[in-house]
Amino acid sequence: MEKQELLYEGKAKKVYTTPDPELLIVSYKDDATAFNGLKKGTIQGKGAINNQMSNLLMAALEKRGMPTHLVRELNPRETLVKRVAIVPLEVIVRNLAAGSFSKRYGVEEGTPFDEPVLEFSYKNDELGDPLLNDDHAAALKLATREELAVIREYAFQINRLLRELWTDRGIILVDFKVEFGRLPDGTVVLADEISPDTCRLWDAQTREKLDKDRFRRDLGGVEEAYRQVMERLTSGLR
Ligand code: TMP
Repeated sequence: MEKQELLYEGKAKKVYTTPDPELLIVSYKDDATAFNGLKKGTIQGKGAINNQMSNLLMAALEKRGMPTHLVRELNPRETLVKRVAIVPLEVIVRNLAAGSFSKRYGVEEGTPFDEPVLEFSYKNDELGDPLLNDDHAAALKLATREELAVIREYAFQINRLLRELWTDRGIILVDFKVEFGRLPDGTVVLADEISPDTCRLWDAQTREKLDKDRFRRDLGGVEEAYRQVMERLTSGLR
């Protein structure tokens, strides 16, 4: 399958059309941004790691019954996916307080929750991805009530599966963001990516951050952290 036209260029990925109108090619870049594009940089090797990690994780989820957009990996940076209409929601699941939750509610980072916390943001860069609830999402017609219920169920299911997978590799899944899309027949599937750009991953022993927070917070060792999580994912070592 070859790339045709550039359909869309985002902050971390490019999306191309293909001869098949139902399929797209996603090409991952090494570009990194944070704080809605205010901070810009490059993370060497990130595109290839995020592409391959996202594909491994989505394939693992598919195997356990979660529908995703994944078709097949084409090369280290590029993947063939089903064309979907993205539901404009950033769906966040949190197991421990961190990031914007800690800041907004004054809770120390690393405080565990009794049960996972689901949060929606409106995917809208101009508005700065504002936090919203189910009623807001329904009022704005971002998704139907039925879709919201499916998305909530899927998000918790993804959390259970990914938490187990990372725990086996000595990593705490602190939180993550996923996006869903609609296939032409309306079926909701997991789309976008799952990578250290979109998850908080901490070493279970040292609590060292092994994700994009190293870039956001200028902690250094960004490339090394991405390489290490990929290595731990593929080797399955603790
Ligand atoms: P937050 O604590 O900054 O709201 O982030 C929650 C999770 O979502 C974290 O794992 C990082 C991820 N995330 C994205 O994938 N994209 C974004 O634009 C933001 C702000 C967070």
